[in-house]
Formats: sequence, C-alpha cells, structure tokens
Amino acid sequence: MAADLITPPAPQVVALRGLSKSYGDQVILDAIDLTVERGEFVALLGPSGTGKTTLLRILGRLEDATSGEATIAQRTSVVFQEPRLIQAQKVWRNVVLTDGRGTASKARAVAALDEVGLAPKADAWPKVLSGGEAQRVGLARALYRSPDLLLLDEPFGALDAFTRRTAHDLVLRLWNDHRPGVLLVTHDVEESILLADRVLILGDGHVQADIPVELERPRDTTSAAFNATKRLVLHHLGHVSARPHTTSP
Ligand SMILES: Nc1ncnc2c1ncn2[C@@H]1O[C@H](COP(=O)(O)OP(=O)(O)O)[C@@H](O)[C@H]1O
Ligand SMILES: [Mg+2]
Repeated sequence: MAADLITPPAPQVVALRGLSKSYGDQVILDAIDLTVERGEFVALLGPSGTGKTTLLRILGRLEDATSGEATIAQRTSVVFQEPRLIQAQKVWRNVVLTDGRGTASKARAVAALDEVGLAPKADAWPKVLSGGEAQRVGLARALYRSPDLLLLDEPFGALDAFTRRTAHDLVLRLWNDHRPGVLLVTHDVEESILLADRVLILGDGHVQADIPVELERPRDTTSAAFNATKRLVLHHLGHVSARPHTTSP
C-alpha cells in the first residue's frame, strides 16, 4: 500500500506547555499552557507589568523562556506599539527589512503596502507618514512574511480614536484574507471583544481566564450581548493581581 504523503498543515500555531519565564528571582510567567489555532483570533488582556510583552517576545523568538515546552509556527511576525521604522530607508525598504533570506522583492513589498492602502507611499520616506500610516507600514512588514502567526503588542495604543477604528477594520480584513492565528495584546476591553474569538486574562504569571466571545461579526458594541461579555471580562480583570511574584527562598 502506498504511503500517505499528504501531511495536513498543523492546526496549531502556538502550543505552550508549562512555559515559565523569570528575571532573577522574579517569576513573570509561571507554567503557562496555551494553544492558538491557525485562523483563530485571540486577545490577551492584563494589568501593566504582568508579562504580556514578555510572552509575545518569547513567541516571536526575541526572548528565551526559562523552562517549559513551546511549539511555535515557523513563520511568525510581530507588530509593536511603535512602528519601529528606519527613517533613513524608504517605506518599501522598511517593509522588506525582516526578509532574512536575501530575496527582498520590491514588487512583494508594494503588494503588501497595497493591502494596507499605502502602495502610493512605497518610495516615500517614513518621516512623511502620519502615526496611523506608519503603523500600517508595520502591518505591511508583518504581512510580507506571510505569517501563520501574527503577534500584535498594543498596536493601536498610540492611535487616536478615529484612526484606531479604521485600524480595527483593517486588521479584521487582513485576518479574514490570510487567516493567520493572531495574538493581540491590548489593555482595551472593548477592543478585545470587538476583534477576538477568545479573550485571555493574564495575571500573577498565569492565564487566569479564557473567555470565548460568541458574537457574530461584524460586532455591535452597543448590543446587550456585547455588553454582557464586557461585564464578564471586567469581572475577571477585577480579580487579577498586577504584580509579578518572587520565588520563595
Ligand atoms: N529584560 C528584562 N529584565 C528584567 N525584568 C524585565 C525585563 N523585561 C521585562 N521585565 C519585567 O517583567 C515584568 C513584565 O514586563 P512586560 O512583559 O513588559 O509586562 P506587560 O507587557 O504586561 O506590561 C515587569 O515587571 C518588567 O519590569
Ligand atoms: Mg507590554
């Protein structure tokens, strides 16, 4: 009998088992178990200093865990709160910056910029961009890698309310078109419920709550169901400790 040569793509883009991270004797992440499936949109909420960025940096391979097991999709992109553009490089060059294969393609950069509505700015310098445009270049750079896992660390935090709403629509469209797994760090409860399939609450080194958002898209922030979910998330957030703990001697 012929061997089955078709290997289905791994449905999980993140699988963490007992993942821990300490800085000195300060335990930031304490035996985290977490899975994210391809095509799933997960939001991560938690008070400042609970290790959200640390977790994203580990998933983005920018930081090592102290212990535990982690399986993470090979093609992973990170977008930070600040767009981190190199001012001395044109916009399209910034898009191909993380192309480690030495095969930087302007055509592919322009295609990625087109997806975020910025193809006409390909040859511009970053200094002419607005804050929202610069952040969209950051998204184009993430898309350029065709990620299976897209990590977003408070990417809308610095945007004004109007630009933020446009950015929400854009991220939802890109997610729909490409279906990566998304892990979005945010401190905005409404944003997490507007965008995600699941809201995780991180506190005291653990995932304290994993709340499914069972609302049809597009979501109406004024609906009773939306507000019921919001109350549930706020309730869980109210029980979370902000401070990382230290190991006992
Ligand atoms: N490189 C580092 N060295 C020591 N402590 C760090 C380092 N990076 C982060 N921390 C500490 O880890 C904790 C979690 O930080 P962070 O992941 O940035 O939290 P969050 O993103 O949830 O606000 C904080 O107490 C922070 O001071
Ligand atoms: Mg952070």
